[in-house]
Amino acid sequence: MTKRDVRAKPNSMNKNILIVPGDGIGQEVTAVGKKVLDKVATKFGHTFTYDEALIGHVAIEATGNPLPEETLAKMRASDAVLFGAVGHPKYDNDPTAKVRPEQGLLKMRKELGLYANLRPIKLFDELLGASSIKPEILKGADILFFRELTGDIYFGEKGRKNNGDTAYDVAEYSRFEVERIARKAFDAARTRRKKVCSVDKANVLETSRLWREVVQKIALEYPDVEVEHQFVDSTAMMLIKDPTRFDVVVTANLFGDILTDEASQIAGSMGMLASASIGDGTGVYEPIHGSAHDITGKGVANPLASILSAALLLEISFGLKAESDVLINAVDGVLKAGFRTRDIADATTAPDKILGTEAMGNEVLSRI
Ligand code: NAD
Ligand code: IPM
Ligand code: MN
Repeated sequence: MTKRDVRAKPNSMNKNILIVPGDGIGQEVTAVGKKVLDKVATKFGHTFTYDEALIGHVAIEATGNPLPEETLAKMRASDAVLFGAVGHPKYDNDPTAKVRPEQGLLKMRKELGLYANLRPIKLFDELLGASSIKPEILKGADILFFRELTGDIYFGEKGRKNNGDTAYDVAEYSRFEVERIARKAFDAARTRRKKVCSVDKANVLETSRLWREVVQKIALEYPDVEVEHQFVDSTAMMLIKDPTRFDVVVTANLFGDILTDEASQIAGSMGMLASASIGDGTGVYEPIHGSAHDITGKGVANPLASILSAALLLEISFGLKAESDVLINAVDGVLKAGFRTRDIADATTAPDKILGTEAMGNEVLSRI
């Protein structure tokens, strides 16, 4: 062993992280997410090297393309991506625009093979009062959503006919797509409370009937996991009526998109929900919220979803569980100390405890 080996910290890692802030509050919260990653690296003796790339509206403005080739190449070459959000009111209010920020996000998911989107819904105890749902209904809620991310009505054929007077979006699923996301959900359930709820609309949709058939078959490989099949409409109701009955939920792309925005209210706010998009190659870690034009530039966006996405990045892409836990505990500490961003404040929050994006980030940083 050389002298240099002796001095090297045990298990120290060299990793390349690509920061892709995108649009609106994506810029504001991702800046905080990057700072906390860097603090963790310093504390644990890792070397994280950062690069940055464009996506969404900012990429369209600079290059005409919502996902420039350069961005995609940098994503493929990096060890993990910390992503912000895409979107701009200009396009939201113009349904005829042919080039749109969201195309960049969808193309990224498809090109990187990010078929599994993990959306943990975990309520920090301190936020019991922040939700519009009664505390006694919420207490103990802890759900892990597996949202399929590269199929369904998002990626099927779409277009217009009848001189533009009729529009269509085709929903398609193939057996292998359902199998791989179902396996991920069952595997995760084994490490949790061993319950999977598969959500579909098999009473109406053919894609859902294939979904249910495949999940029933995969379930046979997991006799130790309890499985139930539930329709999406009643699941939407049950999530609010009795959130603690769920453990792992697995569902299709569109249903997962809608149900997790709803479920964000279990965790108190959209600004609390992190996600991991994983698949064949580089993992992408992103808050579930969008670019939030209504609060962009005001410095009030909640950065905790980005910080918790950074925690998922450390655990899932780098296998750094202790580092990830340090981040989650730091968030918990900040909430215990009573600090809130506006979206998670309630009637009992003292005005001097309501912080902006950067100040909230600094409170987390000081606890790492
Ligand atoms: P949104 O998630 O941007 O905002 C919904 C509501 O939640 C807004 O009132 C917003 O202020 C609030 N909110 C969201 N994140 C917050 C945070 N971190 N802190 C405090 N409050 C927060 O959804 P929207 O308004 O429907 O969409 C706006 C744009 O974002 C659209 O262009 C949409 O296409 C895009 N979008 C992108 C993504 C993504 O990039 N992953 C996700 C959703 C929406
Ligand atoms: C999300 C968003 C995206 C989706 C949009 C912006 C394309 O809502 O990441 O949840 O529908 O997947
Ligand atoms: Mn969404």
